[in-house]
Amino acid sequence: MSKLIIGNWKCNPTSLNETKHLFEVIQRGIVKNKNVEVIICPPFIYLAHLIALVKGGLTFGAQDCFWEQKGAFTGEISPLELKNTGCQYVIIGHSERRKYLQETDEMINKKIKAVLKSRLKPILCVGEETRDTFNSEGKPLNEMSLMVGEQIEKDLANVSAARIRDIVIAYEPIWAIGTGNSCSSDDAMKASLFIRKTLTKLYDRPTAEKAKIVYGGSVNSKNVNEYIKGANMDGVLVGGASLNGSEFVKIYEISSRF
Ligand code: PGA
Repeated sequence: MSKLIIGNWKCNPTSLNETKHLFEVIQRGIVKNKNVEVIICPPFIYLAHLIALVKGGLTFGAQDCFWEQKGAFTGEISPLELKNTGCQYVIIGHSERRKYLQETDEMINKKIKAVLKSRLKPILCVGEETRDTFNSEGKPLNEMSLMVGEQIEKDLANVSAARIRDIVIAYEPIWAIGTGNSCSSDDAMKASLFIRKTLTKLYDRPTAEKAKIVYGGSVNSKNVNEYIKGANMDGVLVGGASLNGSEFVKIYEISSRF
């Protein structure tokens, strides 16, 4: 399986000029590599501009989409429009959308199914709110397995086993996003094993093995090897550090060594 290095630019940069500049720094540093797939997820408004500039070696994702393919849905962007623009991936259920836009697991499930129907690949984000805390007897509450288990079950409801190979699951503990407080490789590995166990329960072992699981939350060039090598992740989802072109290229270079 090739490793996935995903850059989630969120609501940045704020002008097309800056966006093109960032993209050019990244494009210069990335060579076509069958072991690593680099996926850039810029704001919607820049997607078509950047897709027109690409010389190879990069693929594109959107940061969200609607669950219908077309029609009277003011302000929404459909999976079919993204597919026809040249996207291959869509981030779905990012914690910032769950938090600020009140996206529910039911909405996320509809989006996942619509994305798959358009032959795009969803990058489904799951993750717990706080680091594990302990109850009064000192027993861990294990918020990770409770929250992540429930999100996966609800978000993938009625998704057939045959489509799991097209799904990327991004384990993104909310407490690690944008905080510089990254998850230990041990905990990331535990979460990844738990996600495969959940998929095995919902489908079966061979199906669970086919999903790609990546880690996201304060990834940078100094800690990326902990996830790619240490936690045996299928890749990383990079937010803040993907806005610095040379830092993102470094993350890519380090990941291509494994
Ligand atoms: P971060 O964001 O790398 O800035 O923590 C990751 C994400 O939210 O996808």
